[in-house]
Amino acid sequence: MNSVRSTSWRKELKSHIREKSLVFLLADSNLPDSYSMDIMKVCKIKNKTHLLKIKGGEQIKTHQHLIKIYNELDVVGADRKSVLICLGGGTISDLGGFAASTYKRGIDLVILPTTVVGMVDAAIGGKNGINLESNVGILKNQIGTFHQPKLTGIDFKWLDSLPQDEIKSGWGEMLKHALLKGGSHLEQLKNAEPNIASLAPLIIESGNIKEGIVRRDVKENGERVLLNLGHTVGHAIESLELDASTESEIKHGIAVAWGIVFTLEVSVIKMGFNDAMAKELIKWIVDIIGYREKMWGSKEIWLKMCKDKKNINGNVKDVLLRNPGDVDWSFTWEREEFTILWEQFRKRYELTSC
Ligand SMILES: NC(=O)c1ccc[n+]([C@@H]2O[C@H](COP(=O)([O-])OP(=O)(O)OC[C@H]3O[C@@H](n4cnc5c(N)ncnc54)[C@H](O)[C@@H]3O)[C@@H](O)[C@H]2O)c1
Ligand SMILES: [Zn+2]
Repeated sequence: MNSVRSTSWRKELKSHIREKSLVFLLADSNLPDSYSMDIMKVCKIKNKTHLLKIKGGEQIKTHQHLIKIYNELDVVGADRKSVLICLGGGTISDLGGFAASTYKRGIDLVILPTTVVGMVDAAIGGKNGINLESNVGILKNQIGTFHQPKLTGIDFKWLDSLPQDEIKSGWGEMLKHALLKGGSHLEQLKNAEPNIASLAPLIIESGNIKEGIVRRDVKENGERVLLNLGHTVGHAIESLELDASTESEIKHGIAVAWGIVFTLEVSVIKMGFNDAMAKELIKWIVDIIGYREKMWGSKEIWLKMCKDKKNINGNVKDVLLRNPGDVDWSFTWEREEFTILWEQFRKRYELTSC
């Protein structure tokens, strides 16, 4: 994996674009204009540049948005020596990364993440993609490639404008990394508040945890699958909310945090995870994310889980924990057992059932 992650993004960016025929900046239009102007200033010194703004959010991970980017790349004359820079959260880098990996069979990619989710997770490891509208509704990240960014540039100043609920969403992915790692990193996260001042010192280390796993298994032939902790149920919840297209669409990291709460409960039963420790972790998580007004039923969740990318030969796979830092990724669900456990879980955490 030949990818640089750096907080000295100006210096690194200058050196990465030096030989490029065109710099195509794909920026989230929800960001203050000063962010993209700043980057354009760095690039314009020596390069031909083009700026395309798209409003970030899960709804942009579609083939229609992908085609809009291809067309724009074509109109401005981007060639194989061009570079695509993504400035935004995980939805901008998933969509833009996929465009960069497929346009003219692949052009260079730079990611400048502006969310916590992006900084600790989405901008690392080279996965990109869009969602699929299937006969069971929207399915997350079903179409995509592996295409490593040449550079991931981090600037904590970009987080100044990030709304509080997006910070909590980033905390959800940091929680995943902390449970995968265990030890002092988990303790530090437990002692942190879900705000930028408190989380910033842990962001680089959280990203390092992901990077370490990815470097050992770039194409997810084994160990990388453990980064799906909390995502089997998390993606199912997220997809169901997208189908319903409610105003209160759940944030990715919050869906993952719910997936982790369920995983901890199941891990006690299936993996002998310490019950008292699980209860303590669950209380900490739920105090931060709050109870759900409505939790989806086991039937709907199961239908989405049946389409999860991890599944093999129709078996619904999941990632469980024996301990923080000790992960099992060979677990297979039986529908009946899932139904019983999910319905119990749902009653505990759904406000209308309490
Ligand atoms: N490829 C991967 O490895 C990977 C890993 C984790 C998550 N993901 C994907 O990432 C997506 C979630 O990423 P996300 O949480 O960054 O979502 P996002 O890109 O939708 O950003 C969240 C919201 O914050 C806004 N925003 C972004 N940066 C901002 C800033 N600095 N100031 C103000 N507003 C800002 C966006 O416009 C959006 O409304 C999901 O689609 C998930 O599947 C991918
Ligand atoms: Zn995730």
